[in-house]
Amino acid sequence: QSTEQAVMYEAHEFVKKYYHHLLVNTEEGKKAFDYLQSRGITKEEIKQFEIGVALNSWDAVTKVLQKRGYPMSIMEKAGLVARSEKDGSYYDRFRDRIIFPIHNHQGKIVAFSGRIMGEGSPKYLNSPESTIFHKGKLFYHFYQAKNAIRKKNRAVLMEGFADVIAAYQAGVTEAIATMGTALTEDQAKILKHTTEQVILCYDSDNAGINATEKAANVLQKEGFTIKVATLPDGLDPDEYVRKFGVDNFQSAIIDASVSLMSFKMQYHRKGKNFQDETVKFQYINEMLQEIKKLPQLIEQDYYVNALAKEFSISADALRSELQQFQNQNQ
Ligand code: CTP
Ligand code: MN
Ligand code: MN
Ligand code: MN
Ligand code: MN
Repeated sequence: QSTEQAVMYEAHEFVKKYYHHLLVNTEEGKKAFDYLQSRGITKEEIKQFEIGVALNSWDAVTKVLQKRGYPMSIMEKAGLVARSEKDGSYYDRFRDRIIFPIHNHQGKIVAFSGRIMGEGSPKYLNSPESTIFHKGKLFYHFYQAKNAIRKKNRAVLMEGFADVIAAYQAGVTEAIATMGTALTEDQAKILKHTTEQVILCYDSDNAGINATEKAANVLQKEGFTIKVATLPDGLDPDEYVRKFGVDNFQSAIIDASVSLMSFKMQYHRKGKNFQDETVKFQYINEMLQEIKKLPQLIEQDYYVNALAKEFSISADALRSELQQFQNQNQ
């Protein structure tokens, strides 16, 4: 760890406290507090997630950092401030936004994400990648969830901040998030040190469903046991909890998660008309591709038989087809 990085960690910790203080103790923070309240996020979650607010100011953070003697060139590299191309002066990167601090897996704050209060673009403004922040190598809330993940021997993987907070309120304390980007091989490898089981609980819009398929493939390569929790009506976990209450999220969604293969069956079936034989054979081929990815032969055998039964094809024919796939890919 370089001295520059040490300064970056310290500055993030300092700014986190500043943003949090503004939210919890000041009149200027009232609007943000009310916004969170309206989303069902109370004082307890504000504390647990160390949420804060960046004021509608161009220089509030810049000034406190300068006053504390933090070198501004390093603050710029850390993404805490930005620099004007015109006159080289520094200004606040985050303005008039709810602030979610992002911890690395050792518990140090390495970045922030700022949500606009209401509609607008970008919805979330994130710290840039830096020498201390690699978005593809950490999970949101992993540091705090680690013990729960160990104890329950599984992680529940979600897309975003509000989802993890809602899950936490619903007692799903093993929830973590990838923050909107595709799950990376690095993240999967890192998670594997703590658990071998993942429940994917992404948004149930099209983007989320496609991301589930992609994340599952990454996790499968690393040898995880994967389940998928599906939400109704295009909702995300946060929206579900707000609509149906915190009490049934665990039982109706998490406990009702299905095996990856059941999810894949639904996924590949979607919009297909099995009256059309070409479509039917396309589906069977897609499922064979999925079966091929299964690590255990007994699992492969089980799904081959199920597929054979459903479509009145001999299991032997499917097995030799599967064998050909496997040879092609070696
Ligand atoms: N995200 C981001 N930048 C954006 C939009 C999204 O970094 N402009 C990330 C955030 O981590 C966000 C996640 O992607 O939490 C999922 O995006 P989305 O589903 O669009 O947002 P929600 O998490 O549902 O946000 P909210 O409930 O606050 O509307
Ligand atoms: Mn989404
Ligand atoms: Mn969402
Ligand atoms: Mn949401
Ligand atoms: Mn597929």
